Amino acid sequence: MISAETFAKVNLGLRVGGRRDDGYHRIDGIFQSVAVADRVSLAASDEDAIAGVGGRPVADDLANLAFRAADAVRDRAGSGQRIELILDKSIPAAAGLAGGSADAAAALAIAGRFFGVKHDVLADIAPQIGSDVPFCLTGGTARVSGRGEIITPMSPMTGFSLVIVVPPFEIATPAAFRTWDDLGEPIGLRFPQSALPPPLRSEGDLYNDLYPAAVVQAPELDDWRADLEQGWGRPVLLSGSGPSLFGFFVDSDEAAGAAATVPTGARFAESCDLVPVGWRITDDS
Ligand code: C5P
Repeated sequence: MISAETFAKVNLGLRVGGRRDDGYHRIDGIFQSVAVADRVSLAASDEDAIAGVGGRPVADDLANLAFRAADAVRDRAGSGQRIELILDKSIPAAAGLAGGSADAAAALAIAGRFFGVKHDVLADIAPQIGSDVPFCLTGGTARVSGRGEIITPMSPMTGFSLVIVVPPFEIATPAAFRTWDDLGEPIGLRFPQSALPPPLRSEGDLYNDLYPAAVVQAPELDDWRADLEQGWGRPVLLSGSGPSLFGFFVDSDEAAGAAATVPTGARFAESCDLVPVGWRITDDS
């Protein structure tokens, strides 16, 4: 059995360019791994299977991104060995935190170890599984461009904590990008440079260009953001196509205090430290 913990991602900033011929959008963002983790395990099996802890079914069964990732690695290895994946999920789904992509990245990593497939091949497979998978495979702090496949690692970010809040609704990423087109490619929510933690100030103001589209998809998002801004006394930004919102705090103690003040009804409200990797092997026996 090989297991890895795999971390959620937050878009500290996300600029969106025009739509490309293949339907995807050009992006330019600063992506950050945060300490909210799923665990993915892989073992040899008599038949292919994927399950949650205790045998619970997982979304999409064998079409789940994690299984597709492991299957693609097995293909590259030319192996017929059947495998079972177990997902132990803590990252909120459909939240803009790349939970499914993080599971897929861990599945690439552990299947790579299991089938003896090298990292450059895994990096080649990653964008075929999903736009956020290349970042999740690399992790830490990185500038991400292209449609998500061009990863330029940055020095690991330290010296602040986040509080991440997931309001009680979902926003579909394809719908958010389509709405961004329909709205005329707006510049999104701005996070002023002066309110950023010092390690991020060299980036200038940060933006999430998908925010106006996310608000069209879920108008309650703007109320959640305004309430959090008022409660925390600072600007709040959106991760990805949402609905995850987050604020910056000087350390985990201040963040834990702020997480405790989040209005009831959120799907998730926690203080999250930054992590310098996308995933880590926790068991190889
Ligand atoms: O790559 P992934 O399957 O995660 O993307 C989900 C959807 O999000 C795509 O089908 C596309 O509609 C949209 N998307 C996009 N541009 C990106 C990433 C995602 O338009 N760079």
